[in-house]
Amino acid sequence: MAIKFSKTFLLRKLHQLTGIVPLGLFFFVHMFTNAAAMNGAALFNKKVQEIHDLPFLLFIEVFGIFLPLVFHSVYGVIIAAESKSNVLNYGYGRNWFYFMQRATGIFLFLFILFHLLHFRFGLIPGLTMKAVAGNADQAYSIIAGDFQITWLLIVYILGVLATAWHLAYGFFLFAVDWGLVIGENAQRWLLRGCMGLALGLSVVGVNAAVAFVRPCGLMPQVLCEEPKKAAPSGSVKF
Ligand code: HEM
Repeated sequence: MAIKFSKTFLLRKLHQLTGIVPLGLFFFVHMFTNAAAMNGAALFNKKVQEIHDLPFLLFIEVFGIFLPLVFHSVYGVIIAAESKSNVLNYGYGRNWFYFMQRATGIFLFLFILFHLLHFRFGLIPGLTMKAVAGNADQAYSIIAGDFQITWLLIVYILGVLATAWHLAYGFFLFAVDWGLVIGENAQRWLLRGCMGLALGLSVVGVNAAVAFVRPCGLMPQVLCEEPKKAAPSGSVKF
């Protein structure tokens, strides 16, 4: 009998767990760091520099991001390939959610690969071939320069929307599958809460993406101000 890797209990649980911690956690932090772009280049670059100043950064990146990401994405693609979607036959809501979870997963596999080669390693010909890592003082200008290309900005917005949905519905599946939320009514409310979370993360993430091409992103500009420069030490304050 053929072994279905997507049905292996332990791997399946590990797949769900890595999606929540550390990857989900990372996405929250990442979107809120990006949101600093609303207040201009100086603040955003400072936030990027702070990340690069973290002790044990390489260790955090390898064991907290890259390895869980490789496992979660590769195993996710296996699950998607082995699953049978029947949305065209049965168009019920949950069936569409099931299909969307797999479709966004495959899109994200390609998007994140592209995104890492682009900003993390600066290896995409035709775009800025300078990694943000190691050039924190130019982080904002690298991203803002490339986001002048409309199709690229759209790809990033789609990446944010797909991740927000994938993560929020992933929370729901996790809570139900691990038996944390059992009753039918409770599950219905949880699903609503998770859709609210998807919406909230989408707004923060898309607004941050737009903030690289328009001050304050989609928000009214009075809500954002470039932080005032610190007064030079020794100057007299009245
Ligand atoms: C507007 C959207 C986004 C922008 C502007 C953006 C920007 C960046 C930048 C500049 C880096 C390099 C950081 C550094 O080396 O210091 C990075 C890394 C990364 N981004 Fe994004 N990102 C966006 C969306 C996303 C999305 C939707 C995901 C999906 C989960 C994602 C996942 C990652 C990962 C996994 C890394 C590697 C982290 C590391 O090396 O420490 N990003 N991003």
